[in-house]
Amino acid sequence: MTAGARPLLYVVRSLPGGDLGPVRELFEVAGDAPRPPSRERLLVDARDASTLVVTYLDRVDRELLGALPRLRHVASYGVGVNHIDVEACRARGVIVTNTPDVLTDATADLAIALLLAAARRVAEGDRVVRAGRWTDVDPGWMLGTEVTGKTLGIVGFGRIGQAVARRAAGFEMRLLFTSPRPVAFAGAERVTLDDLLARSDFVSLNVPLTPSTENLLSRERILAMKRGAIVVNTARGAVIDDAALAEALRSGHVAAAGLDVFRDEPRVPAAFLGLDNIVLTPHLGSGTRETRAAMSRMVLEDVVRVGRGEEPRHRVV
Ligand code: 8YV
Repeated sequence: MTAGARPLLYVVRSLPGGDLGPVRELFEVAGDAPRPPSRERLLVDARDASTLVVTYLDRVDRELLGALPRLRHVASYGVGVNHIDVEACRARGVIVTNTPDVLTDATADLAIALLLAAARRVAEGDRVVRAGRWTDVDPGWMLGTEVTGKTLGIVGFGRIGQAVARRAAGFEMRLLFTSPRPVAFAGAERVTLDDLLARSDFVSLNVPLTPSTENLLSRERILAMKRGAIVVNTARGAVIDDAALAEALRSGHVAAAGLDVFRDEPRVPAAFLGLDNIVLTPHLGSGTRETRAAMSRMVLEDVVRVGRGEEPRHRVV
């Protein structure tokens, strides 16, 4: 940056519905392409950035902080911040912002979509029809699992977990949840994780990824689940031991799964791809036009606020 020039805003991936107009009054904008640069390119091209807009796939670690000495603000497009070394940012005085709330409903909708799809074999049925394998009417064929009246265990009862519960109440589901703190929610019972896994017909994962939730659904816990339960994950892939889940899906101990998130996205474990009792979506939780545009506005609003020296609205550190 030359003296007197505007500070550099580097947008790692362009944001849908994001109006960069107000931002350009304050910043020189770089990046902002549909495809992100390689990590090596990013460290060079964003070298002078004071603000970086990232997504959950862009790691903000000590190496990156070291390579961007002018960085003051990391604006993350999403609510989860597990891709960001938040403590290193705090130590460096780098502000971190995210986009909570606006994506709660869309993500909860997708959790319910996956729950229903897994229970009622929607994706498998679609494949059967397209392959011309629907050749007879057999009342015993392709039977799924009833949803109405069953027990749903929600692991993590924050904003998204509670939004899943509100929707599940419409299916007259019994609701169990885990939470580090008591949460008042009519008709929902706070239980231990072990109790939840032993009693739930459906388990929805809605925890942030932290060192204490990594592999939370371990092999041992998967085996402690009720036989024939269904797992839904719209949180982060690393919350589940994927090899153990694939084995449990193969053996039928877990009847089906609906997964939107994976440990090493966009890579999906090969063990999942060959299984019919699993519905896979490519991290679509917040993926509606309305929500993604709202997230873009939220990210850019905080970019402008921090750029003007004001307090951001959605500060993580
Ligand atoms: C992604 C998400 O950020 O909010 C999160 O934590 O994982 C998502 O909303 C979104 O898919 C954009 O990359």
